[in-house]
Amino acid sequence: MTAEQVRRAVEAVSDPELRRPIGELDMVRDVSVEGEVARVAIVLTIVGCPAANRIESDVRQAASSVPGIEDVDVTVGVMTPDERKALTEKLRAGRPARQMPFGPDSLTRVILVSSGKGGVGKSTVTANLAVALAERGLAVGLVDADVHGFSIPGLLGIPPGTQPTRIDDLMLPPVAHGVKTISIGMFLRDGESVVAWRGPMLHRTVQQFLTDVFFGDLDVLLIDMPPGTGDIAISIGQLLPHAEVLVVTTPQSAASDVAIRSGLVARQTGQRVIGVVENMAAFALPDGTVIDLFGSGGGAEVADALSAPTDRVELLASIPLSSALRAGGDAGTPVVLDDPSDAAASAIDALAQRIVTKGRGLAGRSLPFSPA
Ligand SMILES: Nc1ncnc2c1ncn2[C@@H]1O[C@H](COP(=O)(O)OP(=O)(O)OP(=O)(O)O)[C@@H](O)[C@H]1O
Ligand SMILES: [Mg+2]
Repeated sequence: MTAEQVRRAVEAVSDPELRRPIGELDMVRDVSVEGEVARVAIVLTIVGCPAANRIESDVRQAASSVPGIEDVDVTVGVMTPDERKALTEKLRAGRPARQMPFGPDSLTRVILVSSGKGGVGKSTVTANLAVALAERGLAVGLVDADVHGFSIPGLLGIPPGTQPTRIDDLMLPPVAHGVKTISIGMFLRDGESVVAWRGPMLHRTVQQFLTDVFFGDLDVLLIDMPPGTGDIAISIGQLLPHAEVLVVTTPQSAASDVAIRSGLVARQTGQRVIGVVENMAAFALPDGTVIDLFGSGGGAEVADALSAPTDRVELLASIPLSSALRAGGDAGTPVVLDDPSDAAASAIDALAQRIVTKGRGLAGRSLPFSPA
C-alpha cells in the first residue's frame, strides 16, 4: 500500500526540461518500502543530465511527503539507448524527426517581434513579453533569431556557457523564468563568432532552431528578429509564412518610416501584422512632470500606415522609458517578474493580456490554396 503511494507521488514529479511527469517518461524503476524507509530507483536520459540534481531532490521530497515515510534512498541510473529511443519517439508523438513542427497546421501561435530600426527595444520587449505570457500559464518558447546580435540569453539571465541538453538527436532548450529559450549564443565557444556568416548559413541556423530543437507543445512561440529586413527576415518569411508579426517602434516620427517598411515586407510573405508596440514612450517623474524624450505619435502613425480597410492594425501597447526595465535586462531579471508595479512592466503585462485575448484570427491571412 505505502509503496504504491510512494510510486504515485514519485511518478508525478515533473522533469524540469521535458516538462512532463517522470512516470509518463518511464523514468521510475523499482520502488519499495521497508519500515519507514522508501527506496526509489529512477533513470535519467543521459549521464550528467543538468536537471539531475533537481529531479533527485524533487523525488526525495515527493517520497517523503507520503505519510509514514521518514527516510528516502534514491538511486539514479541512466537509460539504455533503446529506452532513450523509445522516449524520444514518445516525445515526438509520431512526428518524424527533422520536420518543422510550426507549420500552418500547428496549434502554436508564432509571433515575430520585428522592427525597422535597431535598438528600439525589440529584444527587451520580447523577453519580458515571453515571461509575462508564461506567468499566465501559457507554454511559451522563444527563438532568438538575431544571430549576429543575440541578446536574449543575457536578458533572461541564462548563464554564459549554458547549452541545450541533447537526448540523441533531440535538443532540449534551456528554460528561463518558465520560457523555453534557444539562441546562437548557446552554441558558440569562447572567441567564436558569426560575423562572417552569410545568407545560407544563417538560413540553416534558423531552420535548425525551428526543426531540431524540441519545444514540445507550445501555446506561443515568440521570435526575436534582428533589426531590418535582411537575410534572416527573408528566411523566416519562407519558413513561417503564416506567422503573426508585432512591429516595435519608438514614438519618434523618423523611426516610423522604417518600421512601416518592415511591416510591409513581412506582409508580402503572407505574414499578418497583428499590432504595433511603441517603446521608449513618455514617462512621468514622481512629481508628475512628463518627459517625452523621443516625442510622441510614432506608434499610432505606424499602426495607421499598416492598416488595411478590412484589417485594422492597432497600437497594442505604449511602453514608457523605464530604468527598471533597462536594469532588469542588464541583470537578467525581467522587470515583469521583479518589479511588476513599474509602469513599463504593467504596459508589457497588458500587452500580454491583449495578445492572449486577441487570439489567432484568420483575417488577413492567405488561404493555403490558390484559385484554379
Ligand atoms: N522602455 C525602455 N526604457 C529604458 N530602456 C530601454 C527600454 N527599452 C529598451 N531599453 C534599452 O535600450 C537598449 C536597446 O534595447 P534592445 O536591445 O532590447 O533593442 P533591440 O531593438 O533588440 O536592439 P537590436 O536592434 O540591437 O536587436 C537596451 O540597453 C535596453 O535596456
Ligand atoms: Mg535585439
